[in-house]
Amino acid sequence: MRVIGKRVRRIDAIEKAFGKAKFTNDLSFPRMLHAAVVYPGVAHGVLRSLDVSEALKAPGVVAIATYKNVPNNEMGIVTKDMHVLVPVGGKIRFEADPIAIIAAETREAAEEATSLVNFDVEELQPVLTIDEALRDDPIVNGERNVAFQRKIRRGDIEKGFQESDLILEMDFETGYQEHAYLEPQSIIALWDGDNLTIYGSMQCPFYVHNDVAEVLKLPLNRVTVIQMETGGGFGGKEDVPSYIAVKAALLSYLTKRPVKLVYNRDMDFRETSKRHPSKSHYKVGFTKDGKIKAVKAAVYLDMGAYSTLTPIVMYRSLTHAASAYDVENIFVDVYGVYTNKVPTGAFRGFGSPQVLFAMERVMDEAAKRLGMDPWEIRYKNALEIGKATATGHVLEESVGAKETLEIVREISDYERLKEEVRKFNEGNKYKKRGLGWAHTIYGVSLGAAGQPLDASSGEVHVKMDGTVLVMIGGTEMGQGAKTVMALIVSEILGVDVDNVRVMQPNTSIVQDSGPTVASRTTVFSGNAIRIAAERIRDNIIEYLKSKGVEDIKIENGYWIADGKEIPFSEIAREANAANVKLAEMGWFSTPKLNFDFETGTGEAYVSYTFSTQLSLVEVDLLTGKVELKEAWVSHDIGKVLNPVGAEGQVEGGVVQGMGYAISEEIKHDENGRMLTTNFNNYIVPTIRDIPRVHVKFAESPFSKGPFGAKGLGEPSLMSSPPSIANAVTDALGILINRLPITPEEVLLKL
Ligand code: MTE
Ligand code: MOS
Repeated sequence: MRVIGKRVRRIDAIEKAFGKAKFTNDLSFPRMLHAAVVYPGVAHGVLRSLDVSEALKAPGVVAIATYKNVPNNEMGIVTKDMHVLVPVGGKIRFEADPIAIIAAETREAAEEATSLVNFDVEELQPVLTIDEALRDDPIVNGERNVAFQRKIRRGDIEKGFQESDLILEMDFETGYQEHAYLEPQSIIALWDGDNLTIYGSMQCPFYVHNDVAEVLKLPLNRVTVIQMETGGGFGGKEDVPSYIAVKAALLSYLTKRPVKLVYNRDMDFRETSKRHPSKSHYKVGFTKDGKIKAVKAAVYLDMGAYSTLTPIVMYRSLTHAASAYDVENIFVDVYGVYTNKVPTGAFRGFGSPQVLFAMERVMDEAAKRLGMDPWEIRYKNALEIGKATATGHVLEESVGAKETLEIVREISDYERLKEEVRKFNEGNKYKKRGLGWAHTIYGVSLGAAGQPLDASSGEVHVKMDGTVLVMIGGTEMGQGAKTVMALIVSEILGVDVDNVRVMQPNTSIVQDSGPTVASRTTVFSGNAIRIAAERIRDNIIEYLKSKGVEDIKIENGYWIADGKEIPFSEIAREANAANVKLAEMGWFSTPKLNFDFETGTGEAYVSYTFSTQLSLVEVDLLTGKVELKEAWVSHDIGKVLNPVGAEGQVEGGVVQGMGYAISEEIKHDENGRMLTTNFNNYIVPTIRDIPRVHVKFAESPFSKGPFGAKGLGEPSLMSSPPSIANAVTDALGILINRLPITPEEVLLKL
């Protein structure tokens, strides 16, 4: 292949590095207003009165919307359990549950007026932890605090334990994680009396499209959503931009003026989603030679005040609860629990990092008790073709699980490394090193729980001068989707990568392609684009044949017609003049998955990515600080389309997973108000903390992926937290069953 699998520069690198790329806040329109949001600052209560008259008189204020102005005030992506704006008489369920929105001539005027909105709240006891919520007194939302349950019942769990020589029971806890995208939530809405246009930072323009139309009761063909350059999403811009967009759209609708709503970091921390904190109990049975016989798990996810995406997140916790192993007897329950805190939702890994951490810790404990090497026990239980996943999905192809284990063992020179660590620990009293493994699985795309959304569109237009315009429904948010699309088109059409432009998604141009989540873009948008490009290629070939050309090849950016090299620009001009169709649409969906939701068994996903990570940590016994020094990683992602981009995803994923594992922590006060609302006390890794990351891919091709590719965006993070926790346990010889492993936590444990 010419460009696929080769080391290329990402197509949006220069415009981003030079600050030319346009983000939402770079846009401005004549007569544009600026919006601010009014929050109650109380975690649980009933809104008794609301008076905006004083705020309306403030200088620069143009309009204030309350629940009375919302055409359809009920919202929620899976269940309608939230309001756009809390009505008087209605419940406030977390401190940043919006009660009013203000539009003013300047951002300062809008923000200042928020303190002039008068309201009374009858306070209720806030429910702040999973344990408190389980008492169902008081109820946070709906009829019960445990609002959702999903389960797997496979094999015979009791028989599995009877056949086990070692049964481990362990409890785990994980904390929040904030996405910490550099660009906060940002939307501009323009209502002109007939049509509404939304520009914004988002992963899922089609979600925003549907939600805004529903809230304003507008037909979908009068609403256009355009994704602007997006400065990171990580799941935090999956459903959340809908909640921001409806606010800006409502104010634009009321004032008939453009409205910009750009969150500051404090608002973004308090109001928008995070990774679910979790509590889980695992009971796992092993034979004495390390074979897993039974996995029983109960997992509780803290979904905060509103369910948002939790029921879908839970599906992933469920299907990933036994990690990447071949186990016949499985009994898993996952519960979604309401509390009076910020709603939690999508975050890279989507409910799997919590359970992978737990199961991978169990694997290490079992290895220790059975006197096995932690690599060995994983290898022994790893999946292969013909074996079944936790849900009983028998794998028929593309299973490079064992290969990733072999690769990491080799590139890390594991035996020598163990020796080095042993020597280091002998020679150091206050610093201890440790090694930790993780071996994980990731179901690519939405899977059985999201099948109605699992299809994507892509259009390719070849222009007369031989340049190409590509339109997809998937979004670029930093992960490199645009470059992958350009590579696919370039490979198929023989056009130079630099002559391919990938447009920002626009809901009025591209068919609803589902959300840009679940690491599905390469497979879904990539296939759609592949199909469109192949059609154009075939149209051109047909035309050349009709002219009598017999032998046609595409090589090194040139078309070779009967031995004569023709640049793509010339082909395009000629084909265009001959009325050849040079614009095509591709549509990709996968066959229906067979899954039984009652037992949680069957084909959960179209394909799976397999990952292995070995982490080397150093712990300072005097300060409790954990440092990830080096990581060796291998992922089987099928064919690697863009090696530089893929390595970048792995490096970023390892580091974001490291932040989750050792430093990032959201804290609340006893009244449910968030204390960590900026990067001074919510500690994300910086350039100083970056470890050395060694990456080598296993490429076990997936027959339905474009050129054999699967997905990597999320698995790149998922192997990191458990391998770090296992390494810290190895270094200190004390059980680490709670994330994050902050210095305080380490010192307490010591
Ligand atoms: N990488 C960057 N740089 N920025 C992001 O926002 N999001 C992650 C991952 N990698 C993200 C990222 C998440 S949560 C997902 S689902 C995937 O990218 C989505 O992109 P993909 O489908 O192209 O893998
Ligand atoms: Mo990613 S959490 O699926 O946006």
